[in-house]
Amino acid sequence: MRFIQPANSKQDTVLSCYAGIGSRMFFDQYLTNEVSEFLWSEHQLIRELLEWGNFDQLIEGGCGFGRAMQLAIDMRIAYDGCEIVKEWIPVARSRIKDLGLDSNEVRVSFGSVESLEETSLLFTGRPSDSSLILLPFNLFGNLNSPSKCLAGARVLGCAVAIVSFHFDAGTTRLRRQYYENCGFVNLKSEFCSIGTRIVASHGLDSLAYKPETIEKFSYDAGFTRVTHFPISHGTLSLLRP
Ligand SMILES: C[S@@+](CC[C@H](N)C(=O)[O-])C[C@H]1O[C@@H](n2cnc3c(N)ncnc32)[C@H](O)[C@@H]1O
Repeated sequence: MRFIQPANSKQDTVLSCYAGIGSRMFFDQYLTNEVSEFLWSEHQLIRELLEWGNFDQLIEGGCGFGRAMQLAIDMRIAYDGCEIVKEWIPVARSRIKDLGLDSNEVRVSFGSVESLEETSLLFTGRPSDSSLILLPFNLFGNLNSPSKCLAGARVLGCAVAIVSFHFDAGTTRLRRQYYENCGFVNLKSEFCSIGTRIVASHGLDSLAYKPETIEKFSYDAGFTRVTHFPISHGTLSLLRP
């Protein structure tokens, strides 16, 4: 299997976290009520964005088993998932096969959103200004280099939707509860100038960025417009080139 990799040690830690107990973070039995609300609210807003935004391709970063695949299928737009944990790829591909979908329209690729220009060579089609890159479920807060991710998206000319948790004390408590539910221990949270960071056992290192930090990353990467939409316990920031 071909994989285009941003080689560095933090990336290795992210990988071992999500290939290990971090994979539980997607499963219903480990979600708290509040995180379920967050995900439901995220799902509803993405559906509205796809209906309203006239996109013809949805690119989902950190897609796992292809979380947003069904949404794209419902909207009749092309779907490309990308994921750094290789164990998820056959799981997602067997869903595509079971649903009898055409791999020219729905595809999941092994690669990183931090190397979007290269990873996109594996996609169903070249991303364009009518593609939406979705960074769901606080993925942006797990990246080693958010700037690299946005720089790649900017070169491709796509819109980007970043879904993040709030950074306030109440949401930090909810996040801690959720990570504990998943089996992480020795949690430490730190409120800092860019947001709230939680680190824990098994390599968990997750930042909930402040909206202004996301704006700064965005403008620095050359995006011209950022709109924030509220979701339950979080925000979706929509970036336009
Ligand atoms: C969507 S994030 C969930 C983050 C978590 N909910 C939190 O609160 O921090 C997890 C998924 O993203 C994937 N992932 C992490 N970094 C990635 C990257 N650079 N490119 C593609 N997928 C990545 C992981 O393997 C995992 O399947």
